[in-house]
Amino acid sequence: MIYLDNAATSFPKPAAVARAMADALTQCGANPGRAGHRMALAAGRLVEGCREELAEYLGERDASRVIFALNTTDALNMAIHGVVRSGDHVVTTLIEHNSVLRPLSELSRSGVITLTLVPPDAKGMVDATEVERVMTARTKLVVMTHMSNVLGLEQDVAAVGALCRRRGVCFLVDCAQTAGHLPLRPREWGASMVAMPGHKGLLGPHGTGVLWVREGVRIAPMRQGGTGSASESMFQPRMMPDMLESGTLNLPGIAGLRAGLREARAQECQAHAVEVALCDHMREELLGMPGVRVYTQKGASLLSFNVEGIASQEVAAALDEREIAVRGGLHCAPGAHRFLGTLQNGAVRVSPGLYNTMRDADALVAAVAKMTR
Ligand SMILES: Cc1ncc(COP(=O)(O)O)c(C=O)c1O
Repeated sequence: MIYLDNAATSFPKPAAVARAMADALTQCGANPGRAGHRMALAAGRLVEGCREELAEYLGERDASRVIFALNTTDALNMAIHGVVRSGDHVVTTLIEHNSVLRPLSELSRSGVITLTLVPPDAKGMVDATEVERVMTARTKLVVMTHMSNVLGLEQDVAAVGALCRRRGVCFLVDCAQTAGHLPLRPREWGASMVAMPGHKGLLGPHGTGVLWVREGVRIAPMRQGGTGSASESMFQPRMMPDMLESGTLNLPGIAGLRAGLREARAQECQAHAVEVALCDHMREELLGMPGVRVYTQKGASLLSFNVEGIASQEVAAALDEREIAVRGGLHCAPGAHRFLGTLQNGAVRVSPGLYNTMRDADALVAAVAKMTR
């Protein structure tokens, strides 16, 4: 099988990830941060080691600002629900994933917040001046993707971050498509919080994610419960990371994430360059095919297209028959498809990863060429 669906989750995972997960279960299986016995302490060291390496990747000196989550969606929900209060205004963009649009739309529908969606420019880029134009005195939070999972272009989050810092507005960046693909520097962008998956570019297992919270950000816990600390109190501790991490952590997942992160960092988190080269090549080839409509631009790290007269899901199914895994449909990002004019039928998304080669790209091109004949 040729796997070209890395925007959903990366595959294959490095062998070290599976090994680290098995070791965590068999050799280090206690509950981290709870008891004082040596097994629990070893589990705690594993968790804190991973936290420190993630902090290093994010350019953060204080590892306690790194919170383990279930996935990007969970991290985004923690951030959104932790920061907004009744009467706040929130700004986001049309090209966000449903993991941003749905929690914000629900808060808006129930009258807790007012919400403004900023459309991108003709090239799919979010313009900071447009974000500033819709801000009001009540704007509490701006949420923006670092890269849309349909358009594949790196957004200028630093421009929006500078604006948010100037106006004292909280800035949450969704790094679902860039964590591990690119070096991330949220402090330099002026971000307040970053949500990212462990299971995509960081090469970790499913069910892992991370929320980074800059010092000084006022955030309330979305969940409360046992933290193994301040147990005499009926109330959630206020110290980080305990405040935002209740209940037993995903120890095998965190062990796997640490191994994946090491692998991604050994490649200097430069998967993006590999992906862009492959997508540019496939794009050039598909642009020359009659009946094929390409939506993504040169320099994008994924490729969205349609074959005239065939539904995107059918094209994906036909490629699956040829042992090529891609994803058709709307990719949980209806606004991005509205922008492309593909809301009705979606598009075929080809998303290569660190381990794909030109041969894989050529196999995709040849398979699409056969469909157009
Ligand atoms: C831009 C973007 N945000 C958020 C998500 C949600 O990620 P997760 O599956 O880790 O919750 C995705 C998933 O594809 C995404 O592409």
